[in-house]
Amino acid sequence: MLSQKTITAILELQGQYPKKRSALLPALHLAQAEIGYLPLEVQQEIAALFEITANEVHAVVTFYDMLFEKPVGKHIIRVCKNVSCMLRGSDEILENLCCKLNIKPGGTNVDGQFTVIPTECLAACDRAPMLLLDEEVIGPVHKDDLDGILKQASEMIRPLVKDVDDG
Ligand code: FES
Repeated sequence: MLSQKTITAILELQGQYPKKRSALLPALHLAQAEIGYLPLEVQQEIAALFEITANEVHAVVTFYDMLFEKPVGKHIIRVCKNVSCMLRGSDEILENLCCKLNIKPGGTNVDGQFTVIPTECLAACDRAPMLLLDEEVIGPVHKDDLDGILKQASEMIRPLVKDVDDG
């Protein structure tokens, strides 16, 4: 499933570390940037490139929140549910957001635009309650802001296939 371009980039990454296994996490990010998520076939391909078992790759993929085993929306919205955000109303933000998109937390809306993921502290407590829209920190968020945030995201272009030369 991986393109030759991504495989080459992964092999180059391996050469940057004393032990090639240290490049596993950035390699998984590269693979995910190309495919959009990390199905078992891709995990097996990566395992072969690193000469480790698919189970070892799977353990890493399932440990990190930023890696996905199943397809996700074009945009990922992470709503912080940790204490600072929770005390300032993140439950209401999450509930309203899911209601607007007609999904449950963790779900993807019907047109595949948005996946909403409740998450632990994102280190922007001074902006509580906050959310992360793809890579953009937004906060403090009020429930009345949500329509505007979703509209802004819908107008953003975020290609699933990232050019690995972009770094
Ligand atoms: S508690 Fe929400 S960003 Fe830290």
